[in-house]
Amino acid sequence: MARKFFVGGNFKMNGTKESIKSIVKGLNEAQLDSNVEVVIAPPALFLQLASSELKKDNVAVSAQNVYDKPNGAYTGEISVAQLKDSDIHWTILGHSERRTLLGETDEVVASKTKFAIDGGVSVIWCCGESLEEREGGNTISVIERQLAALAAKVSGDDWKKIVIAYEPIWAIGTGKVATVQQAQEVHEAIRKWLRANVSEAVADETRILYGGSVNGKNCKDLAKEKDIDGFLVGGASLKPEFIDIVNSNL
Ligand code: G3P
Repeated sequence: MARKFFVGGNFKMNGTKESIKSIVKGLNEAQLDSNVEVVIAPPALFLQLASSELKKDNVAVSAQNVYDKPNGAYTGEISVAQLKDSDIHWTILGHSERRTLLGETDEVVASKTKFAIDGGVSVIWCCGESLEEREGGNTISVIERQLAALAAKVSGDDWKKIVIAYEPIWAIGTGKVATVQQAQEVHEAIRKWLRANVSEAVADETRILYGGSVNGKNCKDLAKEKDIDGFLVGGASLKPEFIDIVNSNL
C-alpha cells in the first residue's frame, strides 16, 4: 500500500524567535511536494509562534516531548491537554537524547506514547541503537526490545497515530549517516516485527522514518528504499536544505 511520505524537523534546543520565524517563512515560500506530510518541532517556547507563522496546509507543528500525567505538580513538564489547548497535535517521544541523557526507559516512552494518543496527540516514536550495540551485533534485538515495550502499551487504532523513527544513535549529529543498506535492513526488520507481533495492516500502514545525519545530498538515495517512508531531521532542519529533504521523494 502507498504510505504518505513524512518528514519531521527536530529543532532540538535550538532557535530564537527570529530564527524560527525565518525558518517558517522559508517553508511558507517554498514549493513543497504536496504529497508529503511535514512537521516541524521547535523548542516548546516557540510552538505557538511557529503555529501562528505557518501558512502551509501540509506542515504541522510538533512538540519534542510531553508528560504522561494530566496536569499538576510536575515542574518543567508540559501536558497533552496543554498541547491540545495550543492546537498542537504532534509530539516526538523517546528521542535517544532523552533516553540517554534523561534516563527515559522503554516503559516510560511507551507510557507517554499511550497517554499522548489517548489525549488526541499523534506521536513520532523514536528508537535506535548505540554504536556499541551495533558493533556487538545487537541492533535488531535492541530495536525489537524497544518495540515490544511500545506494543505492550498501545493497541488497535493507536497505531494509526504513531510514526516510527529509526535513529541509530551513532549517526545522530555525527555526519556519519547510515548506509542505504544499513537503514533499509533495520526498517525492514521493524516492519517484519510489526507484521509478526501486531498485524499485517499495522505493518503495511505504519510510516518508518530514518533519522541520523540526513541532509540535502544523501536523502534522495535513502528515500528510494521501499521501507524508508521519510525522515526525522535534526541539524539540516534548521537550514534551507530541509526543503530538499521534504521534496526528496519527488
Ligand atoms: O531527531 C532527529 C535527530 O536526532 C537527527 O539529528 O542532526 O543527525 O539530523 P541529525
